[in-house]
Amino acid sequence: MQPTVTSDAALARERRTERVGRPIAASDSPAPAREAPLAVSIRGLTKTYGTTVALRGVDLDIREGQFFGLLGPNGAGKSTTIHILTGLVKLEGGAARVFGGDVVRDYRFTRRQIGLAPQEYNFDRFFSIRDILIFGAGYYGIPRREAGERADELLASFDLYDKRRQKIERLSGGMKRRLLLAKAMVHGPRLLILDEPTAGIDVELRRRLWEYLRRTNEGGLTILLTTHYIEEAEALCDEVAIIDEGRIVAQGAPQALVEQGGERLLEISLAHPPSVLPQTFPSEFDAELDGDVLRVRTPQPRKEIGQVLNALYAAGLEVSQVAIRESSLEEVFVKLTGKRLDAGGGESPARPFRGV
Ligand SMILES: Nc1ncnc2c1ncn2[C@@H]1O[C@H](COP(=O)(O)OP(=O)(O)OP(=O)(O)O)[C@@H](O)[C@H]1O
Ligand SMILES: [Mg+2]
Repeated sequence: MQPTVTSDAALARERRTERVGRPIAASDSPAPAREAPLAVSIRGLTKTYGTTVALRGVDLDIREGQFFGLLGPNGAGKSTTIHILTGLVKLEGGAARVFGGDVVRDYRFTRRQIGLAPQEYNFDRFFSIRDILIFGAGYYGIPRREAGERADELLASFDLYDKRRQKIERLSGGMKRRLLLAKAMVHGPRLLILDEPTAGIDVELRRRLWEYLRRTNEGGLTILLTTHYIEEAEALCDEVAIIDEGRIVAQGAPQALVEQGGERLLEISLAHPPSVLPQTFPSEFDAELDGDVLRVRTPQPRKEIGQVLNALYAAGLEVSQVAIRESSLEEVFVKLTGKRLDAGGGESPARPFRGV
């Protein structure tokens, strides 16, 4: 029988490749944004709230056009970092720049560049949702008429147009999330910052928001997203940074992080498994036979696959299926931080191993 090679993540990688133009797995950083100017540059950022140290020297660069993910467990410092960029929190030490402007000195410029969809709802409950958007735009000096047109466009693209005259309490949780995003976009920002944009929304809506965000990013908008969903970061982001206890502990393309920090193996199903591996099978392979499955641990499964299959044929063993297995980004995350991302929330299902 011809062996079949399963490769789910190869497909995921292809999808990302399509989006960014060329493969990203080969390097730590995504290709297209490499040469682009910096949208965000953070150096040595520190912040303490009373006795709580929230940031212990965060360095982060995000290039124009990137879809960047900031991942971290509860209390890691994600929102604090974001709020320093948007001027909601005063930085203590270090510096942060947005499109070249200093977030403290040039705050008028930097705030105008950013659209923030915060983690918590921040709507005024006395206004209609259309007016919420119009006032949001007015805050940035956009004339009312233009703001009205922009509000209607956004309400239509977020499927909220029918609700435009309603007050906020009449919206469901998912609708409020969409309105937060619309409000963040209303003044035409160059950098969209999303703090947990899909927390607590259903799978269908999450997919639709992903599509919207992908398209918007492809249209040139730089996006910084924090998320508890590893799956979300893998699906959307061309680069992620993992933050833990106020420090960046890893950074790179999701696939590169998986390749650096994870475990890789070949999982080979045998048609007629022996009870022990034949002596003729080379001992240099780190192989373990478990029923009809042979697992071979190797740092480069794609490179070694041919040699391993040849050795099996030479030993007279028939192969029915071959899979390359890699740790998920979630496992890399757990390995680096010793924590689970869904701690407390329980929203992200455990994914022990994933076929690649
Ligand atoms: N206004 C505040 N006053 C006091 N402590 C704060 C304040 N805001 C944040 N903190 C503390 O700073 C640390 C970092 O919080 P932050 O909100 O940045 O984390 P986070 O990564 O966004 O977490 P989550 O995933 O739960 O949203 C936490 O220990 C938090 O308790
Ligand atoms: Mg937060």
